[in-house]
Amino acid sequence: MHSLSSILTLPEAAQTPVGAEVFAGLTARPKTLSPWLFYDEEGSRLFEAITELPEYYLTRTERTIFANNADEILGVAGGPSGQALTMIELGAGTATKTGLLLEAAVRRQGDVDYLAIDVSESPLTAAKERIEREIPGVIVTPRVADYTTGVADFPGDGKRKMVLYIGSSIGNFEPAHAETLLRDVRAHLSPGDRLLLGVDRVKERSVLVRAYDDEAGVTASFNKNVLKRINRELGANFNPRLFQHRARWNHEHSRIEMHLESLIAQHVSIGALEMEVKFGRGETIHTENSYKFTGQGVLSMLERAGFAITQCWTDEREWFGVYLATAV
Ligand code: AVJ
Repeated sequence: MHSLSSILTLPEAAQTPVGAEVFAGLTARPKTLSPWLFYDEEGSRLFEAITELPEYYLTRTERTIFANNADEILGVAGGPSGQALTMIELGAGTATKTGLLLEAAVRRQGDVDYLAIDVSESPLTAAKERIEREIPGVIVTPRVADYTTGVADFPGDGKRKMVLYIGSSIGNFEPAHAETLLRDVRAHLSPGDRLLLGVDRVKERSVLVRAYDDEAGVTASFNKNVLKRINRELGANFNPRLFQHRARWNHEHSRIEMHLESLIAQHVSIGALEMEVKFGRGETIHTENSYKFTGQGVLSMLERAGFAITQCWTDEREWFGVYLATAV
């Protein structure tokens, strides 16, 4: 029996973040699902596995850049006066690479305040426990928040701030959204505060595609996990085997795209949303964009957001870039 309100309004599940996103994405043409949906518990585990794949050079390369340059990065960030820095990380997750920067900060200034912001609580709690045990001198403040919809206030401790936005996480956003996000970060900083931005660079197509379509199929499982999540959380009946993982380089937009391609014409029902989704054979759900940057692209994005580039570091192959910018 339907009540009047349930006839006139969407099912309740369509008003939860996951339900709303799935409803909007699967009624859109072309069909899309936002990449944040990947990161349920299993998705987060699969992402950690991706970072260790031979083809996925991003995490390894950025870590090498930090390992080779952390002292210099912290030295430049602290400025000629050698000021103490408060570190703030957006999308901190397990904060594994951040340890290299925190250690360098401790070497420079003895003790460090580190505000770790992430949407999910459990990696933050683990990060706090591990970092405070392994790097004496660091005090970790975990904050559960979705920085993509606007950053909340940063601590007003009078110290210079250094915001870390690493791992090429910014690559998931459309250019306009990326710029809005950086402008919002800038609005919470004072002139002279720093931003450390890690981005993946444009490179040969085959290297990029392999990083998102690995031999072992971990990225394929990561991509299809979103269907399993929808099955579980919204009572859908996706058969992941009837979808094929696709990764392709979109040269015009300078991005890797991930899609899930329906192998046959099929109907899928999503119980909690009271909807039926029709797929044509070969039709795709666009699940992720991962933008790749040129030096000029990063420079103009940062400038439009109110930052000036102070220095940048890269690896031997120049595959990944770490940019230290200053709020102007
Ligand atoms: C976490 C957004 C940086 O785009 O490389 C990895 C996510 N997707 N493999 C990326 C991802 C497929 C990753 N970021």
